[in-house]
Amino acid sequence: MLDSSFQIICTVSVDGPASLRRRPARSPCTRPTPFTTRTTVHVHWGAQPLPGTAEGGDASLKVMTSERLDNRISLITGGTTGMGLATARRLLDEGAQVIITGRDQERLDAATLTLDAGDRLLPVRADASNISDIDELMTTIGERYGRLDFVFANAGILSGRSTQDVTEEEFDRVVGVNFKGVYFTVQKAIPLLHDGASVVLNASWTIYLGRGTNALYSASKAAVHNLARTLASELAPRRIRVNSVSPGYIVTRMFDGVPVEERGAYVAEVAAGRLGTPEDIAGVIAFLASDDSAYVNGEDILVDGGRVAVDPLRPME
Ligand SMILES: NC(=O)c1ccc[n+]([C@@H]2O[C@H](COP(=O)([O-])OP(=O)(O)OC[C@H]3O[C@@H](n4cnc5c(N)ncnc54)[C@H](OP(=O)(O)O)[C@@H]3O)[C@@H](O)[C@H]2O)c1
Repeated sequence: MLDSSFQIICTVSVDGPASLRRRPARSPCTRPTPFTTRTTVHVHWGAQPLPGTAEGGDASLKVMTSERLDNRISLITGGTTGMGLATARRLLDEGAQVIITGRDQERLDAATLTLDAGDRLLPVRADASNISDIDELMTTIGERYGRLDFVFANAGILSGRSTQDVTEEEFDRVVGVNFKGVYFTVQKAIPLLHDGASVVLNASWTIYLGRGTNALYSASKAAVHNLARTLASELAPRRIRVNSVSPGYIVTRMFDGVPVEERGAYVAEVAAGRLGTPEDIAGVIAFLASDDSAYVNGEDILVDGGRVAVDPLRPME
């Protein structure tokens, strides 16, 4: 054991993907180095005596890091495909316990198989637009975990009909999932959320730019955006942060309706020069779930490759 009078200098090496090996090679061990993936870390140190103290020495040890989201109980609605599934994978990688929902049992089973996370994953069949399903979901979570640390209210559906073609049934279907579903998911999660928890709602880039024939969808997402802000204020006394994300063109099941040959036109609108992936969103959600975003509250984060803010057609001459 080292005496507290020693300053410890670490050399850290990581077993894992190449991207993770680009970690600081040498840094004082004043606090744990934040790793983003479950991995084994080898720490080699030389103990240097502080001025006026005894000699130093060499040693090495092998430790497991603590993860950024270790054991955080995280609910993801609509976690069976697309962004929800990618986020589930990312949160599991970062140490969380994850609950995913969806309406379709086959898709839930497929997601469970893909994620292969054993008892760190709880799949629950629940329709986000159905209040009794949400009640049952929260009861299940309460009985199994007793609390929630993070909620990603992600389940949503598209409507691309022009306004004059939207029926009352279509209106209720879209608003039922995209707004009512999100609203009641958060409302019924509140008793389980512990003080200091984080909530993220999935909005859309379309709240920033009137375009095309998706007034119903965009307006339902604008409601979600406002809900995040208002809830952030309402839940502030309990230090619960509420933010939204606004994805751009993300290639998921929802994007299936766009024929492959037409996708080039979409790419041309994006300064990043490509369509987004579910993983582009998952990384941002993991950040918002973690303490790295402790000072981000009531905010909307556009994750759209510059679709809204940047004009890719007019670079500076
Ligand atoms: N893809 C884009 O370009 C884009 C852009 C901006 C925002 N978004 C938003 O991102 C979110 C995720 O969509 P995605 O692109 O990842 O599409 P996706 O692959 O279709 O995923 C949607 C997920 O939500 C679930 N879901 C749908 N209705 C549900 C309901 N009533 N109850 C419970 N789960 C339900 C689906 O599972 P089941 O069908 O089995 O229920 C699926 O797991 C949506 O809110 C969407 O509006 C998408």
